Amino acid sequence: MKVMVVGGGGREHAIVKKIIGSPKVDMVYVLPGNSGIARDAVTVSIAATDIPAIVNFAKDNDIDYAIVAPDDPLVLGCVDALNEIGIPCFGPDAKAAIIEGSKVFSKDLMKKYGIPTAAYETFNDMEKALEYLETAPIPTVIKADGLALGKGVIIAMTREEAVDAVRSMMEDKKFGKSGDNIVIEEFLEGPEVSVLSFTDGKTIVPMISSMDHKRVGDGDTGLNTGGMGTVAPNPYYTAEVAERCMKEIFVPTMEAMNAEGRTFKGCLYFGLMITADGPKVIEYNCRFGDPETQVVLPLLKTDLFEIMQAVTAGTLSEVEVEWLDASACCVIGASNGYPVSYEKGFEISIPEDLWNNTYIAGAKSHEGKLVTSGGRVLGVTAVEPTLAEAVEKAYEMIGRIEFDNKYTRSDIGARALKALEK
Ligand code: AMP
Ligand code: GLY
Repeated sequence: MKVMVVGGGGREHAIVKKIIGSPKVDMVYVLPGNSGIARDAVTVSIAATDIPAIVNFAKDNDIDYAIVAPDDPLVLGCVDALNEIGIPCFGPDAKAAIIEGSKVFSKDLMKKYGIPTAAYETFNDMEKALEYLETAPIPTVIKADGLALGKGVIIAMTREEAVDAVRSMMEDKKFGKSGDNIVIEEFLEGPEVSVLSFTDGKTIVPMISSMDHKRVGDGDTGLNTGGMGTVAPNPYYTAEVAERCMKEIFVPTMEAMNAEGRTFKGCLYFGLMITADGPKVIEYNCRFGDPETQVVLPLLKTDLFEIMQAVTAGTLSEVEVEWLDASACCVIGASNGYPVSYEKGFEISIPEDLWNNTYIAGAKSHEGKLVTSGGRVLGVTAVEPTLAEAVEKAYEMIGRIEFDNKYTRSDIGARALKALEK
């Protein structure tokens, strides 16, 4: 089969590396991909949001199946457009992708169907939001409604910070139209767990749990980033928590989307916080997480492409999804200065024996060499029998990958290892 993957970061590289091994897949195109992904598949210079061009490419090249990975094409209706010309896809249609596309929608969905989440109020009028903040419990959390490249969430530790956050979104339009509506919600505390799931709208199969490290600095300090590293499984996701999540969150969410006439098919991502009152939803994503995918998929034993096709066909209940009994750690090598400003264009040297474990996010070709072109440059994943071994190996590997201005956190997995000691 000829398969097309839409997207071009480390997550897409992890998907590509997995499906090229499937006996059913003959050819993989990635739109736009990147120069690292180009070593594993054919990359085509079409932006992930250029839906008319994606549709034309699929038509002209007789694509049999498409995997749409990033949030923006999903929210923009890339799957709808491909389905219209008869191409089966992995990923939700626009009606279902709204679960990530609008925080107001997802919060209202959880309220309506009794799915545990932080208490909240929504506002489309700045004066009302500011008035509410005069008596709201502090700390509080302010969220822009729409997609904001993961940056539309502000944790306000003081009333002043909360007021500034509301003004920046609603008055200064820091996130454009995404800030026309905002959510102000209760500040929750507890360890965070990411659970990606496969669902065809009838069956939901959680993948192995993982832990992201969103802050740029060691000890979870500094600015939020796209993610500086991940480990899987997440030790806070105990069998008891998993059972509660399935009963109180995963199945109810799938059913709620069906009841709303927005059946979700694809990868539904649950960002959870394990609070003293039990697991609560922090956010939904309508797609694989990045860099969660880079630790979750290497642990998958079953043929990913087969699972994806079953999701599309509505036959997920017939597939047994199996996982390695092992742990994985992914350490991101970023450009020093990310997520603010950084230099790029430095040559990247990756020892050949590490290629299979390396996922390229921000690199391009320059005079035949791979050079840095983004904030997050690449990730390296180790899979080992224990988490301690995986963390050690991942650091050993990233230490052997060289580029100028390389920055890594030095404590990916440290919190998880501590939790395992208890
Ligand atoms: P999001 O972009 O929605 O993933 O939010 C970014 C990060 O903000 C999350 O990973 C959490 O660490 C934090 N966060 C979001 N909502 C809350 C909340 N209600 N209470 C505490 N922390 C939160
Ligand atoms: N790593 C978090 C996300 O993909 O949104």
